[in-house]
Amino acid sequence: MDSSGTNSVVKKFLLHLHPKKVDENAICFNRTFGLGGIATLLFVILATTGLMLRFIYVPVIDMAYDSIVSLQEFYIFGRLLRNLHYWSANLMVAVVFLHLVRVLYSQSVYFERRKNWLYGLILFSIVLSFNFTGYLLPWDQLSYWAVTIMTEILSYIPLIGHPVSIALKGGEQVGQNTLTNFYALHTGVLPLLIIVFMVLHFWLVRKVKGVTTGKEKGIYVNVNPNLIRKEIIAALSVFALLMFLSIFLNAPLKEMANPLVSPNPSKAPWYFMGLQEFLMHIHPAFVAFVVPSVVISFFVYLSYMKQEKINVGVWFNSSEGKRLVIHAAVFAFLLTFVLILATDYLLDFRGWFSSMPVIISTGLFPLLLYVIPAGGYVWFLWKIKKVNKPELFLVIATIIIVSYIVMMMTGLWLRGESMKLIF
Ligand code: HEM
Repeated sequence: MDSSGTNSVVKKFLLHLHPKKVDENAICFNRTFGLGGIATLLFVILATTGLMLRFIYVPVIDMAYDSIVSLQEFYIFGRLLRNLHYWSANLMVAVVFLHLVRVLYSQSVYFERRKNWLYGLILFSIVLSFNFTGYLLPWDQLSYWAVTIMTEILSYIPLIGHPVSIALKGGEQVGQNTLTNFYALHTGVLPLLIIVFMVLHFWLVRKVKGVTTGKEKGIYVNVNPNLIRKEIIAALSVFALLMFLSIFLNAPLKEMANPLVSPNPSKAPWYFMGLQEFLMHIHPAFVAFVVPSVVISFFVYLSYMKQEKINVGVWFNSSEGKRLVIHAAVFAFLLTFVLILATDYLLDFRGWFSSMPVIISTGLFPLLLYVIPAGGYVWFLWKIKKVNKPELFLVIATIIIVSYIVMMMTGLWLRGESMKLIF
């Protein structure tokens, strides 16, 4: 097939994913930033490079590491292939997270879009699970210890945590059974799940006649070339960025996993670093169960809000909403950072309340230290400033998101040997 033939196949495929005509307002770049489309493209790149990696990779603990080394050293473009998979996977987490933030702040999660928001939350957890299971596969020190930390956190979920962690690991320790399980999840179960939910997700976007615009119906224009051209430009830019990263920055590979020697510091992957940082300040049951349950319930619950004051498709609901979100971000940044410093250097709840159960002294007390000012701030906006519910929910979401980002960055950049703070 000549290049114009290939071109028209690509165009026909893209046209099948879209209606014939679209609202002009819906295809402005700063409406969606193309993030959903970029996530789709990254999935295609991941599936393709992942399938190729399967030909070389051996999911056996004595051979996994060597198979990665030989892929990089002896196969033509082997290193590039691994790097492309690695960078696409990391970019996928970031892009899907930004897409989530975009739909949230553009008030696109209500009414007929609620179901898609819920499918989106499932998709987000699938993307994280993909990364988590893939992380172990190179079987080096980095992956072995990160997965050990993460499965330990998991075991703190009441009742089901320990059995789930044991089932995932296939035993008490991270070993061959863990690698077999993770490989099966990463290359079998999760790809199936993501495809099912992506199809549902796209179908629901079509069903509600495309993305929100925040405006009265605009002029309808042909998808081809108006949208297709933009999609091709976005796809080529993402591909160029990926190639650049993959040529100049290698995916990490430390020494082969050694269950007897843990690296110092031993850190989780960047997107879970917020959880690891959180673990340094509060009882593990709160990190693994209490706080995630509250946060997930909140993000599910908010989409059930039915209010006239929701301005679907309007960024931050209004200009006042935007101001409130900026203030909330600054507040959450300062509160989280001050509490990180305080619990590291000043407070010793375990020592001060040694006669109390640790779940109270190192769990409830540090949590209250955060919840009282954050709750007070939200209460002040609600009761005194009479902020409406849609904007109040954006404020709460901002406090949660910014707090997580501050913890993640502290863990990533400000923790050195023995996880001590370094400036
Ligand atoms: C594999 C991951 C995902 C893919 C491939 C994907 C893809 C898409 C695409 C192509 C669109 C339409 C264009 C756009 O908004 O950019 C869209 C819209 C949407 N997505 Fe996703 N998405 C993913 C994950 C998520 C997540 C994690 C959420 C939220 C939790 C989410 C919620 C939504 C919602 C509510 C819409 C409708 C937005 C509107 O009508 O303005 N998606 N998605």
